[in-house]
Order: sequence, then C-alpha cells, then structure tokens
Amino acid sequence: MSLPKHIAIIMDGNGRWAKKRGLPRTAGHKVGAETLKKILTHARKKGIEVVTLYAFSSENWKRPQEEVQTLMNLFRTYLKEAREFVEKEIRVSFIGEREKFDADLKEQMNRLESQTADFKGFHVVLALSYGARNDIVNAARQLATKAASGQIKPDEIDEATFAAHLSTAHMPVPDFVIRTSGEERLSNFLLWESAYAELYFTPVLWPDFDEEAFDKALKVYQNRDRRYGGLSNKQKV
Ligand code: FPP
Repeated sequence: MSLPKHIAIIMDGNGRWAKKRGLPRTAGHKVGAETLKKILTHARKKGIEVVTLYAFSSENWKRPQEEVQTLMNLFRTYLKEAREFVEKEIRVSFIGEREKFDADLKEQMNRLESQTADFKGFHVVLALSYGARNDIVNAARQLATKAASGQIKPDEIDEATFAAHLSTAHMPVPDFVIRTSGEERLSNFLLWESAYAELYFTPVLWPDFDEEAFDKALKVYQNRDRRYGGLSNKQKV
C-alpha cells in the first residue's frame, strides 16, 4: 500500500520517560518537543502531506499548575520559531479551544495560521486544548442553530454536511493514527475523523520515538489491507 497522506500522532509517555531517569515530568515534555521537530522534518522528507499532533487535550488543564505552565511555555517557544515554518513553506493550523489560551499565545496562533495558510506542500496541525466529543457537540450545535433559523432543513444534514462543521473540515481525514507509550486507546482524539484510520500502538515512549521508529510504523501501515467495510483486492479474486 502507498504512504499515508495524513498521519495523526498521540505523543504519549513524556512523564514516564522522565520518571525513569529520575527527572521531573516537565523534562520529558522538553525532550518531547525536540522529538516533535525531528519527526516533522522526517515526515516532510518522506512525502507525508499532513501531520496532526495531539499536544494538549481539553483534559490536560487539570494537571498540576507547574506542568501546565511548562507546556504553555514550550508552545510559546515553539510558536516564536514561526519564521522557520514560513521559510520552509509549511502550513500550520490549530484545532481546539483557542479561547482558553493566554492572549499572546492566541495572537501567535492566529498570526502563524494566516501567514502560512496558502502553503500547499506540507501541513502541520496542532491539537491544543482539543477534545473530539466537544468538537462533535459544537458541530451539532451549529447545525441545530441553522435548522432552527431555517437556513438548513434537518433532512439535508448528512455525513458530509456534518463533517463540514467540525474544526477539521479544512484537512483530509487521517489514514494512520500512531500512539506511543503502550497505551491502546484514542483518548478523545479525532473520533469522527478516525472512523477508517489504521491504528498503530508502540511501547516506545514519545521522547524516544525517532526516525527509525517512524519508518517502522510506516512499514506496518504499508502492509495493512484497508477495506473501508468492503472487500480487499486479494479477497475479490
Ligand atoms: C503526553 O505525555 C504528552 C503531553 C500531554 C504533552 C505533549 C507535548 C509535547 C510533546 C511537547 C511540546 C509540544 C509542542 C507543540 C511544542 P504524558 O505527560 O501523558 O506522559 P505519561 O503518560 O508518561 O505521564
């Protein structure tokens, strides 16, 4: 099978990586941010078109204040390097509850998104304060409002109209979802969009997920048989 066009990654295991080394959890996030850069560079080189990263879930606000602060500062540093995305013509967009972030972060997100909006080669999507159920509820609310005001008839609502009201409407659905650290669940990430995605779970902790581990995952994807509920070519003969 060919390469996945869109890979979505649940970057898990930063805390455990740090704990194993007797370091604070925040040290794991810092190394995790470096891993992210390496993996994005590699994915682009490989010809992947879209990479979506679960960087902060809508539940992560409940973590200790110090850890949330470290993550916010890492996002800040990352966004400050925005010039690199612009120079390399990488489109960057964000999904999630943007309104929950500090004004300076929101401003940086908006700016980077508009500066890179027309780039076509490689698209990085950062899921920040993202939760799929919340996104689905928002889409339902928007459609209900339109139906109540007569802008749309309830019978006109189909899968395509629904998908067009999700925050992911501007990107293709993921072909491949990778989760590191051995946990085998989606944890409220791209629930609608991953309906037919191939899932891949690896025990490797995110800070240790390197180019080799990425290539290994790609090989597994290429050996999968995607049927979307139908029959594979092999089964048809
Ligand atoms: C999960 O590991 C990871 C996160 C909640 C944060 C992911 C953030 C990064 C990789 C760093 C920065 C990202 C950007 C966009 C600059 P965990 O803390 O749940 O680990 P554990 O399960 O081992 O405790």
